[in-house]
Amino acid sequence: MAILLPGGAGYIGSHTAVELLNKGVEIVIIDNFSNSKPKVLEAIKKITKKDFKFYEMDYGNKEKLEKVFEENKIDSVINFAGFKAVGESVKKPIEYYKNNISGCLVLLETMKKYNVKKFIFSSSATVYGEPQKIPITEECKTGGTTNPYGTTKLYIEQILKDIYKSDESWDICILRYFNPVGAHESGLIGEEPQGIPNNLMPYIVRVASGELKELSVFGNDYPTHDGTGVRDYIHVVDLAKGHIKALEKIIKEQKGLFIYNLGTGTGYSVLDMVKAFEKTTNKKIPYKIVGRRQGDIAICYADPKKAKEELGWVATKTLEDMCLDSWNYLEKCPIGDVS
Ligand code: UFG
Repeated sequence: MAILLPGGAGYIGSHTAVELLNKGVEIVIIDNFSNSKPKVLEAIKKITKKDFKFYEMDYGNKEKLEKVFEENKIDSVINFAGFKAVGESVKKPIEYYKNNISGCLVLLETMKKYNVKKFIFSSSATVYGEPQKIPITEECKTGGTTNPYGTTKLYIEQILKDIYKSDESWDICILRYFNPVGAHESGLIGEEPQGIPNNLMPYIVRVASGELKELSVFGNDYPTHDGTGVRDYIHVVDLAKGHIKALEKIIKEQKGLFIYNLGTGTGYSVLDMVKAFEKTTNKKIPYKIVGRRQGDIAICYADPKKAKEELGWVATKTLEDMCLDSWNYLEKCPIGDVS
């Protein structure tokens, strides 16, 4: 029996693939390399010394997807496929809704056809919109997303709830990620944003390397301890391990539809991140304060209690690990090196 990973060559997918292979689980990856590189597959094999089947294809290609289900004994699916750039989604809503929602529907339809009904979905804290309370629990109201990317996550969550309502033989786990950062300690896989990064940590790393001149800090007038935005940064390897726990739950233990926050429960500001990065790497991060970024919220961090109690999962990596591993990845895999 194998676990299918659409988008398994991407940032979070590749780290989860490593954790699954390390556990001796058979996996099949499908990816179209829209935001990843073929070399990631070799890196996964190098880290784990294990092999796996790979299909280069769109996860929304019904014909090819059926072939994957014909050729492999798929038991469950962890869906990492989807576009994820917030700013781009505002400019290309049709592409985002088509790829993220239509693609996921083709995947779910195919799963149903082959009677594969265990599904783990990469959702995001973005579904909480402007959070009702901090720390955010899974019971907090969702909605009010400010960009098409976030709305695709919200809509897919609703689709999954409706599927479960119609047929309780599905086992579904929705994982709401907070802010994934860091890279595998080997430095062989990590985040590979194309062009100028939008997210904080990849931007800091490129300032540290000298590729970008300085960080623009988006606003210092938020109601936070230093005025800059606060987020729950979580190491990608901790996040990957959360998927293993979720999989164990829906495979072995319990049936149903479950929703978990995957965060550390600690919030750090933009300036906390700059200071932590400077301290752990000995690199200077020049920055300037600029106006707020549209759509940003002041504070967002998780209450991770439910995942601890029900999955036995807690994030264990420190802020220092997050900074060091992000930097290590850039040093080992300079931009342009991953072809
Ligand atoms: N920030 C800067 N300068 C930058 C980039 C970011 O000051 O150059 C600040 C932002 O204003 C924010 C914080 O750093 O306060 C984090 O910003 P990110 O862009 O790294 O992350 P976001 O919290 O905006 O969004 C991320 C993901 C989304 C996901 C969301 C879930 O990008 O996909 O977390 O909470 F939906």
